[in-house]
Amino acid sequence: MPAQRSVLTLVPRPTKAALRPGHFTLDAGTALHIGAGAEPAAHLLRTLLAPATGLSLRPSPDGQFALTLDPGLTGLGEEGYGLTVAPHAVLLRAAHLTGLLRGIQTLRQLLPPQALSDTPQRGTRWLLPCAEITDVPRHPWRGAMLDVARHFQPVSYLRRYVDLLALHKISVFHLHLTDDQGWRMPVAALPKLTEIGGHRAESQKGPAGSDTYDGIPHGGSYTRDELVGLVRYAAARGVTVMPEIEMPGHVRAALAAYPELGNHPERPLDVWTRWGVCDTVLGVHDEVLDFCRTVLDEVMDVFPSPYIHIGGEECPTTEWTHSVAVRERAVAQGLPGPAALHGWFLGQIGDFLVRHGRRPVGWAETGTELPLDFTVMTWRDSAHTLTAARRGHPVVSAYHRATYLDYAQSGDPREPLAQPGNIVDLRAVHAHDPVPEDADPDVAGRVLGTQTQLWTEFVTTPAHIEYLTYPRLCALADRAWSGASDWADFRSRLDEHTVRLDALDVRQHP
Ligand code: ACM
Repeated sequence: MPAQRSVLTLVPRPTKAALRPGHFTLDAGTALHIGAGAEPAAHLLRTLLAPATGLSLRPSPDGQFALTLDPGLTGLGEEGYGLTVAPHAVLLRAAHLTGLLRGIQTLRQLLPPQALSDTPQRGTRWLLPCAEITDVPRHPWRGAMLDVARHFQPVSYLRRYVDLLALHKISVFHLHLTDDQGWRMPVAALPKLTEIGGHRAESQKGPAGSDTYDGIPHGGSYTRDELVGLVRYAAARGVTVMPEIEMPGHVRAALAAYPELGNHPERPLDVWTRWGVCDTVLGVHDEVLDFCRTVLDEVMDVFPSPYIHIGGEECPTTEWTHSVAVRERAVAQGLPGPAALHGWFLGQIGDFLVRHGRRPVGWAETGTELPLDFTVMTWRDSAHTLTAARRGHPVVSAYHRATYLDYAQSGDPREPLAQPGNIVDLRAVHAHDPVPEDADPDVAGRVLGTQTQLWTEFVTTPAHIEYLTYPRLCALADRAWSGASDWADFRSRLDEHTVRLDALDVRQHP
């Protein structure tokens, strides 16, 4: 019966799990013994189980189902937990609250899949198989990036997206908020960013370079309250929302709102309607740096994330090379030429974030060009992870051939329009070890983990997002949490996990 087998089919796979005979039955009489500091975990457990089970899980000092925090527990880190399910008692314990939140997702997966439904499920017995689990992630950074700049999604969907991340013990939700085609984050001092930058007239049909357009305006932006609420919602599930604000390239939407930030203030620009790399970039005058700091002040106010991503990639320097003012700035800064302003610019903004107690994150072009206090996301080449980590950067692997979900997941001609050039199948995602093979322990220790990327040029609906994300995100979550590379084992667990995703109405790739 499913409850007996589910301990063996957890995704991600726990570090150590042993099945024992028997069950614990959750029913109307089940009470929670809530240890000091564990209240938010109890609240999450009730919130997640109530819709399907109707269980109230009242608190009681005699409760058989215990959630306890013990900072003295060693070896579990920030996110690890221990779980014992016996016929008459359940004990979930962790050294930190986040560990309890991870354990609650395990409890959800141990229950029959109907427990995941958002509608009342009558006639199901809520059995937990008896088991002993100790579970600690291999990598702290297990992330998912969603691009809401190319196609906007309402915050109600972002909350569901977070729910699904949390089920897979994903720790970072990387929210790509700005790009050439749209600016989605409100900044009180700069209202035109969303009023003008949040809307484009139409969108290119098909891949970059095509010359047809859909004629359909697209737009949207979040309110500050929505973003604050999203951050709180994600935190309650153990997920950190890391914002990304692109600079000095990928800024066409901002330049449409405030052309004076560019290199040709007299030139009116539209929010970009095409895909690809736009050669319109920020200028390097003082007002531009002030603009970036104003934006990031608001970003830091809304997002408590220790990491703030400022993009940095794909910044053509053609405009800079042709600008007298930019060339003069390069000389004034003692730089060899306009191209060196890229590192200088990111250094200025990185310093600003560091002074405010945050860690700047940037996309690596090669792994050698970003200031040393940047955490680097490598994406172009798998060798860049080693290059950047050897240089001393903390690194998150976002290698495109293993983590970009905008590529099709099979060569089937019926796949929806996807980013051309690659296929990223489930196996490639699971096979990806973010730690380079020839990394010595110091260097390996700088690799924080990995994450999926979903760029949304061709992805307009939640159903399409989920089709591209599942089950590939399950593979990334499994590998990054457990470190285990056993493909056959993952596949067999995934068969049962698919039933869980069905219960959540996730539209998955077959
Ligand atoms: C990227 O794919 N632009 C990081």
